[in-house]
Amino acid sequence: MFELKERDGLARICELTTKHGKVTTPVLLPVINPNFLTITPGEMKSKLGVQMIITNSYIIRTTGELRRKAEESGLHELLGFDGPIMTDSGTFQDHVYGDVDVGHKEIVQFQSSIGSDIGTILDVFSEPDFTREQTEEAVRETLRRGAESVDLKGEMLLAGPVQGGVFPDLRESCAKDISALDFDVHPIGGVVPLLESYRFKDLAEVIIASKKGLNPARPVHLFGAGHPMVFPMAVLLGCDMFDSASYAKYAREERVMYSTGTKSLRDLHDLACHCPACSKTSVSELKQMPKEQRTKSIAEHNLHVLLREIKGIKNAIHEGSIWELCEMRARAHPSLLEVLRVLKKHKDFLERFEPASRRGAFFYCGPESYDRPVVARYQQRFFSRYRKPDTRVLVGFEEAQKPYSRTYEKEIRAIISKVDASFLVSSFFGPVPLELDELYPIAQSVIPSDLDEEVKRRMVEVMERHAHTHGYPLALMWEGMETLEFLDDMISSRQANRDHDLLRCRAVLDMQFGRGAGDILEGRKVDIVKSRRTGKIRNVIVDGVHVLSMRASDGRFSPRIEGGRLLKGVLQYPKMRVKVEDEPAEFAAKGNNVFAKFVIDCDPEIRPGDDVLVVNTRDELAAVGRALMNCDEMRSFKRGVAVRVKDVSD
Ligand code: GUN
Ligand code: ZN
Repeated sequence: MFELKERDGLARICELTTKHGKVTTPVLLPVINPNFLTITPGEMKSKLGVQMIITNSYIIRTTGELRRKAEESGLHELLGFDGPIMTDSGTFQDHVYGDVDVGHKEIVQFQSSIGSDIGTILDVFSEPDFTREQTEEAVRETLRRGAESVDLKGEMLLAGPVQGGVFPDLRESCAKDISALDFDVHPIGGVVPLLESYRFKDLAEVIIASKKGLNPARPVHLFGAGHPMVFPMAVLLGCDMFDSASYAKYAREERVMYSTGTKSLRDLHDLACHCPACSKTSVSELKQMPKEQRTKSIAEHNLHVLLREIKGIKNAIHEGSIWELCEMRARAHPSLLEVLRVLKKHKDFLERFEPASRRGAFFYCGPESYDRPVVARYQQRFFSRYRKPDTRVLVGFEEAQKPYSRTYEKEIRAIISKVDASFLVSSFFGPVPLELDELYPIAQSVIPSDLDEEVKRRMVEVMERHAHTHGYPLALMWEGMETLEFLDDMISSRQANRDHDLLRCRAVLDMQFGRGAGDILEGRKVDIVKSRRTGKIRNVIVDGVHVLSMRASDGRFSPRIEGGRLLKGVLQYPKMRVKVEDEPAEFAAKGNNVFAKFVIDCDPEIRPGDDVLVVNTRDELAAVGRALMNCDEMRSFKRGVAVRVKDVSD
């Protein structure tokens, strides 16, 4: 019922199936107060394209007329909405007014009886200012009620919220325990006070701790997060669903939402928006309207802004620019900027979900970009996987236009006519041997030439680490013709005919699949086919067999089945493996994709987008393909493709 379609890190586009149809996440559910329809649910669907709404079953149940109608003709009829409807339980009313008098079983049964698509248990709201003991009690009671509620859901999907206040360990353990129950959606609850006071840093910690404990195959709803400012970071951290009452609440207070913040109508010179509501009116006309009409117009605008932000986020996921979007939005408010510091702290966790490469280029948005997981991943792999060629001299170049080997072509030719040297660029990402200059994200990045001081300092630290470990007897920076003369005087021996294409293949194999993978080319007859147009490596032929193709988009190898066989020979189980049941393995061997539900085991180092080996229970190769999920996800998802099969034996 929840299927992964596209992703960028923890951010994902999924399809959620309900009794009233499918919705694509990330999705915004406008909150409908059944007593107070600022915009009717029917209008929301027809005019604004709203896919799904949320309302409160507790309010319906305690309002005579509404309850009668809901019990008689159902929730969808009551609200005049034929799409999926989620209901909440009264927890929030209990948090605000403290007088909720309904049993936790009764309210779940009630939601099911009126035909809710997704019901919510009566969890206990854990306030951010609760003591640890109070928070533990809220978690304990939420879990107790959760366990007693799951059997009552019937046809309805059921949401089991994560509580735990601002204690990350309680959030994580609550998430683990609530995931162990048969829930369909996991809201993160108790966060409204954090949102209201712009405590976004604490909110990010809460989301991350919750995600660490949750089953990755279930949708995550961020309860009460109705402001567009927080959407990008919440999606980046793995939230799939949002609800907003604020579009109407803000409208009543004449507050106008924008993706970067909120403005008071009285401070606005222009509406600066072209949504249908705003294109019909102006600031001065709005101010003169009767209150009710003005509220409706602003509410409609606010809803447009929220929905548009979600659409923009989907585009960012599709093109692989969710980090860029977050970093740009972080400039809108200092409290959002602080979130980037939190992301830095949890880089290792986030890295597990980071794709092997992206559609779009890496865009530098500020010094915080240096803390994206891909930068750390490049450095970590460089220091642990890359093997230097067996030359004695290393010549370093300054950062320059990419690909570096093209930019420094003349210099390289001049140097290798005199000495047998290797080359390296001191880049934003760290040391980049020229063999790796086309590998993602090196070539696929846009970095300003004049970097922030903080970044320069950190780059120097990494280069110093390299200086201490590179193992070349002689290493020097290129400083023009002087360097050439110096080398000429110093070194008499020279060794021509080093095959730079072969070095590139070996280095990319090691970086992509692990140190030693490059050995598959050792002692064999290797022919390299290059593109006549771009001069880039296209295919690698080993002993007459086409084994690898290099993707122009990310400079990584896509192995053919014979390449997979060679790699399997040098990589010990479970490296690069996705192990599936024997029958699905046979199915994969015929060229069919591998579904997550058949995966038994896999290499924990596999990342989305990695090229992998599909093997059966006896570690026999069935196919090669590209993973769409990491290991945890493959083990958890019950639906959807885990590996897109690319090649099999004839
Ligand atoms: N709405 C806003 N926060 C919460 C919460 O923590 N639990 C429930 N059930 N609803 C909410
Ligand atoms: Zn507008």
